[in-house]
Amino acid sequence: MRLEGKTALITGSSSGIGRAIATRFARAGAAVVINGRNEAKIAGVVKEIEALGARAIGIRANVGNFAEARAMVERAEAEFGHLDILVCNAGVFHHTPFLELSEAEWDEVLTVDLKGIFNCARAALGPMARRRWGRLICITAISGLTGYPEMAHIAAAKTGAHGVVKALAAEFAPLGITVNAIAPGLVETPILSNFTEEALANFRRRIPIGRIGRPEEIAEAALYFASEEAAYTTGQILNLSGATLI
Ligand SMILES: NC(=O)c1ccc[n+]([C@@H]2O[C@H](COP(=O)([O-])OP(=O)(O)OC[C@H]3O[C@@H](n4cnc5c(N)ncnc54)[C@H](OP(=O)(O)O)[C@@H]3O)[C@@H](O)[C@H]2O)c1
Repeated sequence: MRLEGKTALITGSSSGIGRAIATRFARAGAAVVINGRNEAKIAGVVKEIEALGARAIGIRANVGNFAEARAMVERAEAEFGHLDILVCNAGVFHHTPFLELSEAEWDEVLTVDLKGIFNCARAALGPMARRRWGRLICITAISGLTGYPEMAHIAAAKTGAHGVVKALAAEFAPLGITVNAIAPGLVETPILSNFTEEALANFRRRIPIGRIGRPEEIAEAALYFASEEAAYTTGQILNLSGATLI
């Protein structure tokens, strides 16, 4: 599957799953926009992608801020002439028992992981609809399908994202835009530093395939959803969890 001539903005691509998706899309021929909040991390990924011979720019923006998200999408459009693929991947993670969950923590997760999708998609889908071609891919989590102890805030955001995906898939299907989600189980990224070794060992034991997923494995699924070949695939939530959830 190739993405030549396409431009993709991947939020939260300065690290982990987003970085793997940006790199995979670049290898498939896309120009990519790298986003995060830390300039140095963004610049590092831009450099890596340029070294592959692909076009990349970095834009520091907080996806939870409506004005910043809009300005980022507008800059991507201005820089490349069109934005064809939006991957809403940026997320924050705190593993917190409900009775210790603060209002600030609840608000942060809902703002970045859920409202961030609204903020970016609200800016990107109009121009995609006018061009009658677009792809929106949301990186959610299996906790949005099952719920999980000590993850009420994450589950709320990810379940909400699944609702957004289904509603937008129906609304934008007539306009040539597909909308899908990838719901990973545990994936080997810096986010795992939030867990103790004991918690990680417990998680591992519950993964029937016998190991934690790799960011590159999520990126392959994202490439399919982004491709021309997936034009008839929309409104889907792909559970990528090594059979943790079946
Ligand atoms: N890893 C897993 O086990 C796992 C499992 C299921 C789902 N997921 C989901 O996968 C997505 C990516 O997670 P990851 O594991 O790759 O985490 P990660 O390595 O910590 O990367 C998170 C990315 O999001 C960016 N980010 C955070 N808040 C942001 C904001 N307000 N605005 C813009 N960018 C922001 C970070 O940039 P800065 O560092 O510059 O802030 C970073 O680039 C998340 O939505 C997460 O919920 C992960």
